[in-house]
Amino acid sequence: GSSQLPAPQHPKIRLYNAEQVLSWEPVALSNSTRPVVYQVQFKYTDSKWFTADIMSIGVNCTQITATECDFTAASPSAGFPMDFNVTLRLRAELGALHSAWVTMPWFQHYRNVTVGPPENIEVTPGEGSLIIRFSSPFDIADTSTAFFCYYVHYWEKGGIQQVKGPFRSNSISLDNLKPSRVYCLQVQAQLLWNKSNIFRVGHLSNISCYETMADASTELQQAAAHHHHHHHH
Ligand SMILES: *[C@@H]1O[C@H](CO)[C@@H](O)[C@H](O)[C@H]1NC(C)=O
Ligand SMILES: *[C@@H]1O[C@H](CO)[C@@H](O)[C@H](O)[C@H]1NC(C)=O
Ligand SMILES: *[C@@H]1O[C@H](CO)[C@@H](O)[C@H](O)[C@H]1NC(C)=O
Ligand SMILES: *[C@@H]1O[C@H](CO)[C@@H](O)[C@H](O)[C@H]1NC(C)=O
Ligand SMILES: *[C@@H]1O[C@H](CO)[C@@H](O)[C@H](O)[C@H]1NC(C)=O
Ligand SMILES: *[C@@H]1O[C@H](CO)[C@@H](O)[C@H](O)[C@H]1NC(C)=O
Repeated sequence: GSSQLPAPQHPKIRLYNAEQVLSWEPVALSNSTRPVVYQVQFKYTDSKWFTADIMSIGVNCTQITATECDFTAASPSAGFPMDFNVTLRLRAELGALHSAWVTMPWFQHYRNVTVGPPENIEVTPGEGSLIIRFSSPFDIADTSTAFFCYYVHYWEKGGIQQVKGPFRSNSISLDNLKPSRVYCLQVQAQLLWNKSNIFRVGHLSNISCYETMADASTELQQAAAHHHHHHHH
C-alpha cells in the first residue's frame, strides 16, 4: 500500500548560489513512539531512480530523521552537476510502513538557481574614479558553457542612477566621475548558460558609498586660493 503513512508536506528545493537543499515538514504521528524517518531518491533524464546515499551521490539521505537533505554537503561532488536535469522525490517511513512518494519538479541548477550578490567587494577611490573588485557569487566548474557577467549601478549621492556593464572581469573601473564627490554603488552578477541561452539575474549587493579623491589640479587651485586669501589679511 502507498498510503500507510501521511506523506511529507511542503517539500521545497533551495538552489541558492552553489547550495542544493531539499527540505520538508516533519510527519507527526500521535500513535507512534518511534520516530518517522525519510528517504530521498533522485533521477536524471531517462534514468531509473537512485537512493540518495553515500555510494550514489555522497550524502546519506536514507533512514534520516532530519527534515532536509543537503546535497551541497556531498563529498566529493558537492552536489549534482549544475547542468544535469535532476528530479527528486521523498517519502516517510516507519518500520515496514511508508508513505506515497512526493515527487518534486525537475531542475537544472544553472536554469533554476537564485544568484546572490558578488562577494568580497572592495572599492579603491581614485582621482575622479572608483575601482571596484569583487569575487563571483559561487564557483563554476566549466566556464566554457556557463559564466558570470557583472553590472555596476551607481549614482552621485542625491543624483540619478546609472548602470555600467556587462563586464566579464571581476575588476571594474568607474571613470569620469567628479573629484571629491560621494558616489554610492551596488554590484550585480548575471549567470549566463549558453547551452540553453538561459540567464539568471542576481541579487544586488548592499549599497555602499565612497568619496572620490580630489584631482591634482583642483588641489593646486585650492592651495593657490588659500594662499591668496592669506595675503589679504
Ligand atoms: C496510527 O494510526 C493510523 C490511523 O489513525 C493508522 O493508519 C496507522 O497505521 C497507525 N500507525 C501506527 C504506527 O500504528
Ligand atoms: C528534464 O527531465 C524531465 C523528466 O525527468 C523532463 O520532463 C524535462 O522536459 C527535462 N527538461 C529539459 C530541459 O530537458
Ligand atoms: C544514514 O543516516 C541514518 C541517520 O543518521 C542512519 O540511521 C543510517 O544508518 C545511515 N545510513 C547509512 C547507509 O549510512
Ligand atoms: C526549474 O525551472 C523550470 C522552468 O524553467 C520549471 O519548469 C521547474 O519547475 C523549475 N524547477 C524547480 C525545482 O523549481
Ligand atoms: C558557449 O560558449 C563557448 C565559449 O564561451 C563557445 O565555445 C560555445 O560554442 C558556446 N556554445 C553555444 C551553444 O553557444
Ligand atoms: C547587507 O545588509 C543586510 C541588512 O542590513 C545585512 O544583514 C547583510 O549582512 C549585508 N550583507 C553584506 C554582504 O554586508
